[in-house]
Amino acid sequence: TLKEAFKDKFLIGVAVNRSQINQSNQEETKLITSQFNALTAENDMKWMYIHPKEDTFNFEQADKLVELAKANDMFVVGHTLVWHSQLAPWVFKTDKGDTINNAELTSRLKKHISTIVEKYKGKIDAWDVVNEALAEDGSYRKSPFYTIGGESFIENAFRFAHTADPEAELYYNDYNLINAEKRDGAIRIINNLKSKNIKIDGVGIQAHWSLEEPTIEEIETAIKMYSETGVKVMFTELDISVLPSPWNSPTADVSVSFENNPTMNPYPNGLPDSVQTQLAKRYAAIFELFNKHADKIGRVTFWGLHDGLSWKNNFPIRGRTDYTLLFDRAMEPKKAFNAVIDTV
Ligand code: XIL
Repeated sequence: TLKEAFKDKFLIGVAVNRSQINQSNQEETKLITSQFNALTAENDMKWMYIHPKEDTFNFEQADKLVELAKANDMFVVGHTLVWHSQLAPWVFKTDKGDTINNAELTSRLKKHISTIVEKYKGKIDAWDVVNEALAEDGSYRKSPFYTIGGESFIENAFRFAHTADPEAELYYNDYNLINAEKRDGAIRIINNLKSKNIKIDGVGIQAHWSLEEPTIEEIETAIKMYSETGVKVMFTELDISVLPSPWNSPTADVSVSFENNPTMNPYPNGLPDSVQTQLAKRYAAIFELFNKHADKIGRVTFWGLHDGLSWKNNFPIRGRTDYTLLFDRAMEPKKAFNAVIDTV
């Protein structure tokens, strides 16, 4: 199994959604607990679900996930405390509907973070404290957290999380963190926190990748540079899309379903052997690199259990059939699974 193969190297995690948390399919539960030793909630700990109203916390799904993980000796990652997306509508508004000021933002962040992290103290092992605070050029993303709070919202978030559970590992998580400009932005965040003696244990590189990008050389450079700052490197949301990127096709009409669009949805009925092999080779090259730098890598988490559950079927456009993961829609291991195991 994956967790056995990599047990001396790094944790092997998987993101699960509500139906796996609720164990509605025992085959899925079996696959999760037999192959993986770390769990992330794909959605259920995000602000809109866990703290939908100012005085309402909803812990039901998070509790079940923690229970499943603890019963199976799995490491639990809390995803995510502060993110501009999948947020509750009340967060930046006063009762009158005005935008809150920085003092109010700070007090709301404190309540949100302290309540959740304290509740799972000793049970959730690590937190993605701040998610996606950077723009592509490495400057801060101009989300309301930043426009209201300035860069101090990041420091505050890490401080509140550390106070609430001093033992929990704390991470900064983002996508495109291999790209030089954004990478340097993340390194700036890490160094800034460290210079102020604020605890940060790791950087989470989401790793929503394609067959070509980023290159192995680019990933390797990033691993080394992040590691030099003294934090653990984590690959937190790994999936490899085999479909063409709509970003490269500006004429595509995103308002229609792409189900019947042979250019954007080329493999609706199964992946040809040649692409299956390409995907296996790509995964193998990535894991060979991970193995080489296993001393710097804490965890590799797949963003979904099998191809049928991958968010990539609906992102960034809906109605496609993608083949991003190591298990197929029937939960059988793909060529890519064997290729990954064979790198050890
Ligand atoms: C995605 C989930 O996979 C989807 O189910 C949901 O509809 C949107 O969010 N970056 C993150 C993840 O940090 O939380 C996102 O997860 C994917 C991008």
